[in-house]
Amino acid sequence: MHKNIILLVLFLTFTHAVMAVDLANGERINKNCAFCHGIYGQGATGRLSPRLAGMPEFYLRKSIADYISGKRINPTMMQTSGLAQMRQQDIEDVIAYLSSLEIARDQHFNIPQRTPGNPENGEELYMDDCKTCHATNGMGKEKKEAPQLAGQHPEYLFQSIQMFKGRAREHADDPDDETFDDYSDQEVLDMIAFTTTLDDALVVPGERFIPPRPMAARPPVTMPPAVPLPPRPVPGGGLRITDITQTVAQMELKPGVTREDAVQAMLSKAVELNLRLVGSQEVSAELESRGVETPFLAIYQFCNPMDARTMIINNPIFASYMPCRISMVEDAQGKLWLMMLNLDMLINSQLLPQEVVDTAIKVNRQMLDIMVAGATGEF
Ligand code: HEC
Ligand code: HEC
Repeated sequence: MHKNIILLVLFLTFTHAVMAVDLANGERINKNCAFCHGIYGQGATGRLSPRLAGMPEFYLRKSIADYISGKRINPTMMQTSGLAQMRQQDIEDVIAYLSSLEIARDQHFNIPQRTPGNPENGEELYMDDCKTCHATNGMGKEKKEAPQLAGQHPEYLFQSIQMFKGRAREHADDPDDETFDDYSDQEVLDMIAFTTTLDDALVVPGERFIPPRPMAARPPVTMPPAVPLPPRPVPGGGLRITDITQTVAQMELKPGVTREDAVQAMLSKAVELNLRLVGSQEVSAELESRGVETPFLAIYQFCNPMDARTMIINNPIFASYMPCRISMVEDAQGKLWLMMLNLDMLINSQLLPQEVVDTAIKVNRQMLDIMVAGATGEF
């Protein structure tokens, strides 16, 4: 009797452990996630792009389930990632892939101290109140279902704690959790300043992250040394073509959403995100005024001057991506689509400085937010 139970437990543990995951499939699905989380799941500065790389599988599984069930709310992610429509196996594959990305050993991906806060004070508070679940080294504890805080972007952590305080998200699986009620914003910043120091211990000097190559056909590549792009186009050098496949992200307007609704929603979203509408062209209207019949086409241009500055200081060639555009275009069936350039060639590049990649993830993410607002008419 006892023996049977032990055998059964062994059997269940074993079958669970050997359930095959397809990392190549996970890598493919991750392209959807890369839009906002970065191609290596590295996330970006700002509250909207948490790091997923290297997070434990149990936590990724739980949080994805929470978004799908509506316990955690993230409409843009649910409308664009495809998570709600995926087979459980696909979800397992992308979880395994993201969890396998060990970027924390690479100094490049180390989260720098950039929020105001006193790490010494934060350490005291953390050791009193957080370490039982999130562990002394900040790596979290599976048996408490607590994720790692080390290596997470500080703005996202701050935002999450604000959500816990406002009961917009449940902390520690307890709807009545009061962990953060008595902390001032300064104390929260102090704790985050401390957790930001914790990933320093994970860095292996000189080590560079090489993304796994689940598509085994390709031999493992060694990372080329960071080659700085030429500072400016060679004067009189003629046209230069960069041969990188460009991809376009597109969404159809939801039934019932009119052109006017879509434009209004995009403009409101842009204001919310601090992006400026710097131009718009009613291309088809202009043609029609000349008596030319044409499918609908309008182009809206957005820009955040500070991001533009970051990019061109790194390299003036990035001016060619500016301003960011969303086009509204009618297809042969009379359906309206919104389209934008996916900045994935910047995001996926191994040659660009982290600051540029970070900005590209942020801009991509914000443009996508605007596009989703337009396509759904919700903002
Ligand atoms: C449109 C942008 C966007 C896309 C695309 C996207 N995410 Fe997210 N994701 C976010 C944002 C923003 C958050 C943080 C939301 C919050 O505070 O709950 C998040 C949070 C998460 C979290 C929780 C992280 C944590 O620390 O709790 C997981 C897990 C996650 N996303 C997985 C994925 C996966 C897997 C995909 C691709 C299949 C994906 N996301 C695609 C924007 C996106
Ligand atoms: C009783 C265990 C427990 C304690 C104590 C605890 N946490 Fe948590 N914490 C959790 C769990 C569980 C989660 C995951 C919540 C979820 O599933 O969405 C979490 C999530 C978080 C998150 C969100 C992380 C993410 O990736 O989204 C932050 C930030 C956080 N905790 C900070 C803290 C801080 C700071 C303290 C100390 C003041 C603390 N926690 C104390 C269990 C705990």
